[in-house]
Amino acid sequence: MHAAPATFLVTGGAGFIGTNFIRHTLTLRPQWHLICLDALTYAGNPANLDDLPERYGERYRFIHGSILDEKVLSNLFREENIAGVIHFAAESHVDRSIHKPQTFIETNVNGTCRLLTICQEMWEKTGKPAYFRFLHVSTDEVYGSLDDVGYFTEASPYAPNSPYSASKAASDHFVRAWHHTFGLPAIVTNCSNNYGPYQFPEKLIPLMILNILEERELPVYGDGANVRDWLYVIDHCEALLSVLEKGLPGETYLIGGGAEKRNIEIVELLCERLDQILDRRGRKRSHHLIRFVTDRPGHDYRYAIDASKIAAQLGWRARFQFEDAIEATIHWYLAHRDWVAAIRSGAYRQWLETNYDNR
Ligand code: NAD
Ligand code: TYD
Repeated sequence: MHAAPATFLVTGGAGFIGTNFIRHTLTLRPQWHLICLDALTYAGNPANLDDLPERYGERYRFIHGSILDEKVLSNLFREENIAGVIHFAAESHVDRSIHKPQTFIETNVNGTCRLLTICQEMWEKTGKPAYFRFLHVSTDEVYGSLDDVGYFTEASPYAPNSPYSASKAASDHFVRAWHHTFGLPAIVTNCSNNYGPYQFPEKLIPLMILNILEERELPVYGDGANVRDWLYVIDHCEALLSVLEKGLPGETYLIGGGAEKRNIEIVELLCERLDQILDRRGRKRSHHLIRFVTDRPGHDYRYAIDASKIAAQLGWRARFQFEDAIEATIHWYLAHRDWVAAIRSGAYRQWLETNYDNR
């Protein structure tokens, strides 16, 4: 019998979750080869993966290119015998989608459709192998906002509220359609807010850690009561491996960390912990840096996931406790000040001015 190839294409692998996925998977799956395709937007950092060619030789390959580029995609599928695609590439920041929605439509909707089209062509040309998987990594934000009770499940109706979540919702629907209409073995995952190493410091947790370190103001939107269900990125990566290896085509799996926190709780916890580490006391304590600023337009109140389907059907559960993983995350940022300095380019500073100056 012919063994299935073990070469996977990871789109958006130079971003936050993609980087963690590639690094973790190369360690956990010694037979696998990974190809990272990334357009290296402001959120993609090739330095995250710099050491991999030397450590893993031909098991790892980087291609600088866009999922919108048909030529790059078809060459790639012709050259390599690809067993599956883990599709992370996207514009991923809600605030940026409010300032500039068009890029989100282009990358998240058109980019995903282009990728689906090429995958379908190649999958058909190679005799529709049963092992092939298209794993679309999406967000719980497609389900809109919850009030204080209840959880999102795989049966929740779509109700995206931001241009970001609307573009991800559209891409989820196209993935579903490609499975239903063409039979492409595609699976969708929708997960809650991730945190951990390599996250670009425009998202809540790394932004607050770095602002505390640098004694800058801590901008909390509205009253800080909004709730997110925090998922450690390594737990997410392991969930994705379970879905890739055991999930059923055509299905959706929700992935959550089971750690609901209000934004203000997160900010206060980071202040307290960093003050202990940095020995800041009395008037040096970081709480005085907290500023309640103008709320994000259309700000979703609460996200929370019922992850019982993936637990029951695939045996995945989050392994990390929030308290331990946030501690590891804080220490990662403390130990990687050079990484932070390198990505804080002119474009990053310009973004901070655009987003926060009029709040
Ligand atoms: P990120 O913004 O850190 O990384 C996105 C990556 O995609 C970057 O490396 C960027 O260069 C690349 N990219 C952008 N446009 C591209 C294109 N046209 N072609 C190829 N590469 C391109 O995002 P992330 O936080 O790592 O999220 C990854 C995926 O997970 C996204 O699809 C996002 O919607 C989803 N997701 C993220 C979270 C979260 O908390 N971070 C939660 C739920 C779902
Ligand atoms: P974010 O990390 O942008 O993720 P998402 O919008 O996808 O949930 O934001 C997490 C929460 O933190 C969200 O409720 C908005 C809030 N937030 C702030 O209060 N201040 C900030 O500076 C940022 C970036 C986010």
